[in-house]
Amino acid sequence: MFNVPDNLEITLGKHASKHLSADLATLISRIGQMTPNVKAEFPKRLKVARTTNKFGEVQKELDAWTNGFFVDALIKTGLVRAIYSEELDKPYIYNDSAPFVVTMDPLDGSSNISTNNVFGTIFGIYREDLPATGRKLVCAIYELYGPITTLVYTAGNGMGVHEFVKQREGEQQYLLLHENMKLPAKGEVFGIGADPMEWSNEFMGFAKGLFKKHRLKARYCGAFVGDFSQVLHRGGLFSYPCTKKSPNGKLRLYFEAAPMALIMEEAGGASSNGSISLLDVDLPDIDARVPLYMGNKYLIEELEAAIKKGQTYRQQ
Ligand code: AHG
Ligand code: MN
Ligand code: MN
Repeated sequence: MFNVPDNLEITLGKHASKHLSADLATLISRIGQMTPNVKAEFPKRLKVARTTNKFGEVQKELDAWTNGFFVDALIKTGLVRAIYSEELDKPYIYNDSAPFVVTMDPLDGSSNISTNNVFGTIFGIYREDLPATGRKLVCAIYELYGPITTLVYTAGNGMGVHEFVKQREGEQQYLLLHENMKLPAKGEVFGIGADPMEWSNEFMGFAKGLFKKHRLKARYCGAFVGDFSQVLHRGGLFSYPCTKKSPNGKLRLYFEAAPMALIMEEAGGASSNGSISLLDVDLPDIDARVPLYMGNKYLIEELEAAIKKGQTYRQQ
């Protein structure tokens, strides 16, 4: 499964500086160094904050703390001129000379805190100012706080998707676990959010086929990063689809969909909003939500055909 000889200790910083420009490699390495503080705080911040974010979602204490922690730490790198966060009403503009703009979902899957299930952090890194499509991403990173803490990153453009595992306190932060990850050719698992009673008929038909025709196993953990990781390692499909009540779905283009689409497509998978790659969705609204489908190419192609057929049928 893992193609890294165990005597080879490749740190995140070493790996990034081998493939990327010095400033981007430094930022990625610094992000990796931030994780220990975040995990150490988790046991102390389990209450519900009495605030809501701009999406009207009740914030957990950890949402607010993690957001503040990462904003401070990213600014301290001196490499970030603006931060857009799911938990900030407007972007944190710091200085216009630093090279990078960062989007972040500081805590993805925060509903899992109270049940001790996995959750994580998603970063998108741009050189250009926003709004911009996912094609302008220069790097996408997610951290998954599970039984082990892993960090996955890609810079796109064929440089591959690489997974690192956090080491014991005091040792090298992240060591390479899995290099050039590629989705298995045949999908094994699928996870789908939203209320099935609200799915469109064509989506319901496609979803039934995941069981009947493709024999996939249902895996849904309630945190996008956790469900995404299952598909990245085992192949299959993750979706948070649009529904009659929520025609734009639930997940956010800039904070969740675009960075994760870069990773999925770089690992040989596909992403879609139902008709085009999520990397090509061009929405000026930084808080826009999108229908989200990601996984093996053959499954995404089948899904897009099913949606198209349904739309054509309704137009007759
Ligand atoms: P966040 O905690 O950043 O708001 O993200 C939660 C998202 C995503 O992580 C997950 O896939 C989805 O919400 C789960 O939604 P449901 O609870 O409706 O299943
Ligand atoms: Mn999220
Ligand atoms: Mn979040």
